[in-house]
Amino acid sequence: MNDAVKAIWSKLAGHERRPLKQLFEDAGRVEKLTGRIELGDGGIRFDWSKTHLTDELIADFEALAEAMNFAGMRAKLLSGEVVNPTEGRAAEHTAQRGVGKEASVEEAVALHQRMRLLVEAIHEGALGEVKHLIHVGIGGSALGPALAIDALARDLALVDVHVVSNIDGCAIEAAFKACDPATTLVAVASKTFTTIETMTNAQSSLAWLEASGVADPMGRVIALTAYPEKAVEWGVDETRILPFNEGVGGRYSLWSSIGFPVALAVGWNEFAAMLEGAAAVDRHFRDTDGAANLPLRAAFADLYYARIRGCQTRACFAYDERLGLLPDYLQQLEMESNGKGVTVDGMPVSGPTAPITWGGVGTDAQHAVFQLLHQGTNLVPVDFIASIAPGDALDPAHHSILLTNCFAQGAALMAGGNMSSDGKDPARGFPGDRPSATILCDDLDAAALGALIAFHEHRTFANAVLMGINPFDQFGVELGKKMAKDIEAGGVEFDASTAALLKAAGLG
Ligand code: F6P
Repeated sequence: MNDAVKAIWSKLAGHERRPLKQLFEDAGRVEKLTGRIELGDGGIRFDWSKTHLTDELIADFEALAEAMNFAGMRAKLLSGEVVNPTEGRAAEHTAQRGVGKEASVEEAVALHQRMRLLVEAIHEGALGEVKHLIHVGIGGSALGPALAIDALARDLALVDVHVVSNIDGCAIEAAFKACDPATTLVAVASKTFTTIETMTNAQSSLAWLEASGVADPMGRVIALTAYPEKAVEWGVDETRILPFNEGVGGRYSLWSSIGFPVALAVGWNEFAAMLEGAAAVDRHFRDTDGAANLPLRAAFADLYYARIRGCQTRACFAYDERLGLLPDYLQQLEMESNGKGVTVDGMPVSGPTAPITWGGVGTDAQHAVFQLLHQGTNLVPVDFIASIAPGDALDPAHHSILLTNCFAQGAALMAGGNMSSDGKDPARGFPGDRPSATILCDDLDAAALGALIAFHEHRTFANAVLMGINPFDQFGVELGKKMAKDIEAGGVEFDASTAALLKAAGLG
């Protein structure tokens, strides 16, 4: 960290900590800290007014963004330059949505066209009757499809998709039980086409199809990968391989052919709408400067809480059953991207990096974990996410109670107070002044889902740039993988505890 950046951080830390209630004495606060991104016939409102951001903090964070060359890094990201120096790679996920290096956008359009043809051919019966798809993949090759299908395919699943990630055979066994082998396809989703969990589950799927009497099990496989040659080697016919650009990172790959099960489940137009929603956020991110840039503004608040207020976690509660898998998705996006200990220059970081992302759905979480948010000793910044239009067709009371609760929680966290009759019982006291942000979609349709995810991608990137770290590598996952291989290979000595565990399980 150079001296200028150090000076900005100490200025940020030195500002008077004014309570939220006091900040709301400014009548223009809500308007100042609320932005909207339009999405065709709807949009999303981003209200950061219940965070402790002030004009002074924002001015300093804007200075930090300048000192960290945020605009330059954003330009590099969006023009396909190397932004992942440890692996010498660009990060080309926005090109999948039409915003990026021209050649990469053209390639993505062509590969999407190939994917669309296959999706539509399957819908039209080119592979016989297809009722089920078992999608095997893990991490970024599973979390995005699982989230999108759960959010969008509730009413209109054209094909019943089972996303299976875990190596635990119980996971794929459950999918086998739920599917009829005669009408099932298997998507093998792996950027590298080497991941042990995915390849093992793929192999077991082939064995299941064969044991069930399916004539040509390999003919039922679709491969989704950045290394098509490996899929060919594994035995998949080229016509059923959907490649994507190697510059698209695993946790950013939903937009590529990894999104195939989404398109198969909800149809191509819905998948395209999701891409377009994400592109609307890309354009906002590309074209908006300073704190009006909503992902950047969110990063300002994130860093304020992580680095100045010492918050070790950040929670996300979707008041929408359809977003039940969003916290899982965000955990990989944020923690795999920004859970780093060194800067881009290989120096130790000078403050905490990614907080622990966690969350759940409202109102369930209110009856389980909100106790801690209101009265516990940890300060947890919370994001609330909701949709004005309901996802259900029941009595509107369901949705209005849902939304009322969502807004009430943000208000209560901020307001605090005491619930006892004399206002003095400490057990019934609420400190208040607890921050939250609210993301309110007009409607949680495919475009809004794409936009929500892209917003979080850019927020993650903005956090990384301001901390001076590389969000696009993930070497932290490698050591455990290597040790698992060592155990399997045998002949390697482990610590006494691990050796005893292996022995107890009959593995050592
Ligand atoms: O081990 C971590 C990781 O590399 C993630 O980054 C990635 O999303 C996941 O594994 C799956 O990788 P692949 O798509 O290559 O199978």
